[in-house]
Amino acid sequence: MAIEQEDIFPRDRQPTARILAMPAHTNPNGNIFGGWIMAQMDVAGSVVAVEYAGGRVSTVAVTSMEFHKPVFVGDLVSCFARIQKVGKTSITVKVEVFVQRARDGQLLSDQVTEAVIIYVAIDDHGKPRQLPERGPDFGRYW
Ligand SMILES: CC(C)(COP(=O)(O)OP(=O)(O)OC[C@H]1O[C@@H](n2cnc3c(N)ncnc32)[C@H](O)[C@@H]1OP(=O)(O)O)[C@@H](O)C(=O)NCCC(=O)NCCS
Repeated sequence: MAIEQEDIFPRDRQPTARILAMPAHTNPNGNIFGGWIMAQMDVAGSVVAVEYAGGRVSTVAVTSMEFHKPVFVGDLVSCFARIQKVGKTSITVKVEVFVQRARDGQLLSDQVTEAVIIYVAIDDHGKPRQLPERGPDFGRYW
């Protein structure tokens, strides 16, 4: 198992979602299923999109998705979501996923995936809704 010894976990940011990778989420190789990780990333991205939109959002596109390293059972999975761009109704969010693995009393970290996901603010009828104005400091702790 190749893993960085250096602690690259982003300590200066707040993870949007954290979860322990469980045996129930494995693929036939015994590693964590990529579709499960994508679902966690979509949820994490939607958290910041909902906060910005102040209402419901819908995922409209995943414009990039990269799996850099495998995720293993027992990994502590942290998704860091940050808004990249805001349009009239759409919010583009970069989601980066880091794992932490407990070994001999240490937590070793590694970046495993990243994606760019676009959400659209929607109204009660599921139609695009104009986003509210937000100040430049909005979401600065993401
Ligand atoms: C999301 C949805 C309401 C948008 O409706 P729409 O009529 O396609 O909306 P529009 O064409 O007016 O586009 C709305 C915004 O999304 C952006 N957008 C739409 N499709 C896009 C795509 N494929 N890639 C990037 N941006 C896209 C537009 O640029 C626009 O952004 P802006 O308002 O900031 O300029 C509609 O596409 C939908 O319901 N899709 C299904 C969503 C869903 O079920 N998601 C869950 C998947 S399991």
